[in-house]
Amino acid sequence: MDLELAGKTAVVTGGSKGIGLAVVRLLQAEGVRVVAASRRETPELKETGATHVPVDLSTAEGATELIERATAELGGIDILVNNVGIGDTDDIARGSLLGLLDLPDSAWQHTFDLHFYSALRVTRAALPSLLERRGTVVNVSSIGARLTGAGPIDYNVSKAALNAFTKVVAEQFGPRGVRAITVSPGPVSTGVWTDPDGFIGRLAAEQGITHQELVDQFMAGLGATTGRLSTPEELARVIVFAVSPNNINGADLVVDGGVLKTT
Ligand SMILES: NC(=O)c1ccc[n+]([C@@H]2O[C@H](COP(=O)([O-])OP(=O)(O)OC[C@H]3O[C@@H](n4cnc5c(N)ncnc54)[C@H](OP(=O)(O)O)[C@@H]3O)[C@@H](O)[C@H]2O)c1
Repeated sequence: MDLELAGKTAVVTGGSKGIGLAVVRLLQAEGVRVVAASRRETPELKETGATHVPVDLSTAEGATELIERATAELGGIDILVNNVGIGDTDDIARGSLLGLLDLPDSAWQHTFDLHFYSALRVTRAALPSLLERRGTVVNVSSIGARLTGAGPIDYNVSKAALNAFTKVVAEQFGPRGVRAITVSPGPVSTGVWTDPDGFIGRLAAEQGITHQELVDQFMAGLGATTGRLSTPEELARVIVFAVSPNNINGADLVVDGGVLKTT
């Protein structure tokens, strides 16, 4: 199936590894010119030939610099994938292990800066170009946005805000040709789940069980009916389909192996 994306341009935040890297690769395979942002460039991203912009997207300056440099490089932006997230292991661990009375303002602020304000700021900066080109925005959220009672609390609440933000963009700019879509992964086999030094790896070591045993415990607890993590490539397929020409606007596309049980 031709996704009719050849010749388009895209910005992917958090494009150096995990889901973002898979999106970069798939967009390029569809003939899209891509700018990818992250703090560091990985050998895997370098190999794709995509232009890397090194920025800290938890800052307002990082968001502005990314869109300035992407616009200069690409001439304009058709596709924006706000994918940046997770951050450093200590960040995600703090919000998972501490309760509401113990989690400090600084942690909430950092989590919102990375997961919510980055998308708000990058989208706002890209909107003039997106409007000109009738472009599309995908916000990569999480099923945590709908499981806000569970940890990591700051992360889940920031993702709920991101889902709401997608709706705002869809409502305000849909009539002018810009679509906005949320893609919500459940567990995906990226560093947070697979690296020995990632959140799950460290927790397993602390609990004195194997990494795989802890992954299995989490997956059983979450009730994933497919019984497995999604792959970054599976998420990329849904994201790239979402940005191809179609009439989806404001929706939340869930890719979670059956974790969410509500209709
Ligand atoms: N993996 C999952 O199970 C899962 C589940 C639900 C939702 N998600 C969501 O999916 C998205 C991608 O997750 P992932 O698992 O693919 O993450 P990942 O493998 O940890 O990749 C995160 C990307 O974001 C970049 N990044 C992190 N902090 C940054 C900062 N301050 N400034 C700029 N770039 C930064 C990283 O590069 P640098 O570190 O070099 O900056 C990397 O490119 C996130 O929004 C996450 O919340 C993931």
